[in-house]
Amino acid sequence: MDARPWWRTAVIYEIYVRSFADSNGDGIGDLGGLRERLPYLRDLGVDAIWLTPFYRSPMVDGGYDVADYRAVDPRVGTLQDFDAMLHTAHALGIRVIIDIVPNHSSSQHPWFVAALQAGPGSPARDRYIFRPSAPDGGPPNDWESVFGGSAWTQVDDGEWYLHLFDAAQPDFNWNNDEVRAEFESILRFWLDRGVDGFRVDVAHGLVKAPGLPSVGHSAQIGLLGRAELPYFDQDGVHEIYRSWRKILDSYPGQRIAVAEAWASTPERLARYIAPDELHQAFNFDFLDAEWSPHALRAVIDNSLAAAGLVGAPTTWVLSNHDKQRHVTRLGSLARARAAALLMLALPGSAYLYQGEELGLAEVLDLPDGVREDPVWFRSGGKELGRDGCRVPLPWSGSAPPFGFTTSEHTWLPMPASWAGLTVADQSADPESTLSLYRAALAIRRTAFTGGLTWLDSPPQVLAFARDDGSRCVVNFGPEPYPVDSQPRLTSGPLRDGALPADTAAWW
Ligand code: NOJ
Ligand code: CA
Repeated sequence: MDARPWWRTAVIYEIYVRSFADSNGDGIGDLGGLRERLPYLRDLGVDAIWLTPFYRSPMVDGGYDVADYRAVDPRVGTLQDFDAMLHTAHALGIRVIIDIVPNHSSSQHPWFVAALQAGPGSPARDRYIFRPSAPDGGPPNDWESVFGGSAWTQVDDGEWYLHLFDAAQPDFNWNNDEVRAEFESILRFWLDRGVDGFRVDVAHGLVKAPGLPSVGHSAQIGLLGRAELPYFDQDGVHEIYRSWRKILDSYPGQRIAVAEAWASTPERLARYIAPDELHQAFNFDFLDAEWSPHALRAVIDNSLAAAGLVGAPTTWVLSNHDKQRHVTRLGSLARARAAALLMLALPGSAYLYQGEELGLAEVLDLPDGVREDPVWFRSGGKELGRDGCRVPLPWSGSAPPFGFTTSEHTWLPMPASWAGLTVADQSADPESTLSLYRAALAIRRTAFTGGLTWLDSPPQVLAFARDDGSRCVVNFGPEPYPVDSQPRLTSGPLRDGALPADTAAWW
């Protein structure tokens, strides 16, 4: 057995459950569909999957509005379906990480329903963050929702409740012991079922600054130019993760947690992955970096240094269910393929988002009437929101729904232009993006180990070696970059013995 914990180098594949595969013909992806398609993920070569929330939910925010943390939403299946999926995944050697949403519940969670009924000053209200109006009759402070507009909504008796996201997502009060105990119990519920870990939603948001000071009075700009806000990255969150780590460590089999956390500096982010806290944090600086050798090298160096401070592995990610797909963001499929080889050659763990292995682009032309993202609604349609990266996957066939479902209807419409990009088509084509990902993940199993050393290269090229002698070279262009020997894998064809612009190669 490998002495290194599995998660330090794992490739983890994000499943947006409603859009992966549909098993019962209602046009909505579900746990049964995921289970049937697990062999695809084994063949792709991932170590683990991370499932976005599948809990009982009104689905105001794609399931990040949880009404029952111990139940599966009937639209995606049952608890038995979950157990069967988990069992099959484990039998195929795939670990399963699930999303935990501790910052807020759904407004339909029984605790919030009880809080509304119980009235001001009640113990039921103390599980959430209720406050009276400000002296001017307005909301208690100036905090804004991440999705736009005020973070406060007034209820019939005049009090206001805090929601850092949609009004249908009231924030829990983490100073309340019942809230703490409830989440520890929820973690155990799923660990007992056999999950391999958790992705912690808004991990930096749980604790708010005492007295809930207005941003206008308290915001400072951190070293990275990010505002330090009184509702994010408060020191008090770390005590919570230390207690969660003890729970994870009390189970056999290396159960892990990965933080979705935003902090004003890499050093503050590293605190979430100290040895007695969570195992990994998403590296959004890498995702947000522009396509330039200078910017990417700086992010890579800073990420390795910050994680190194606490002995944690770095993580890398190019796309997820909240961000524009990186084919679109970086501007071309060639760049997306080169970026994938760059990411998969770096030390640490890499997160893939379903569909990136097919080279899918963001769907930018969804009709207004089908959009579901609260960002779209709360911005009055000014921001398109995140539906365009959540369109169901194309599996086979030459027209929508491309084998995703037997229904004619899919919960978001699929573009006819995806003909030719299906799993079936790409499996048969050695030049396809799917074939590139399969080859890269297979090579990564035995190569690209140990530390990273930058190699001399012209300014338009990034080149590095790993301790085992594996090398990755990325040419950002515009000039072609001559290479001295035949690479093991390239993101696109060599031309006259040179690596063209926006192409990466592995040796
Ligand atoms: C982050 C999740 O990734 C996103 O989809 C969600 O809207 C917010 N957290 C709120 O839960
Ligand atoms: Ca279904």
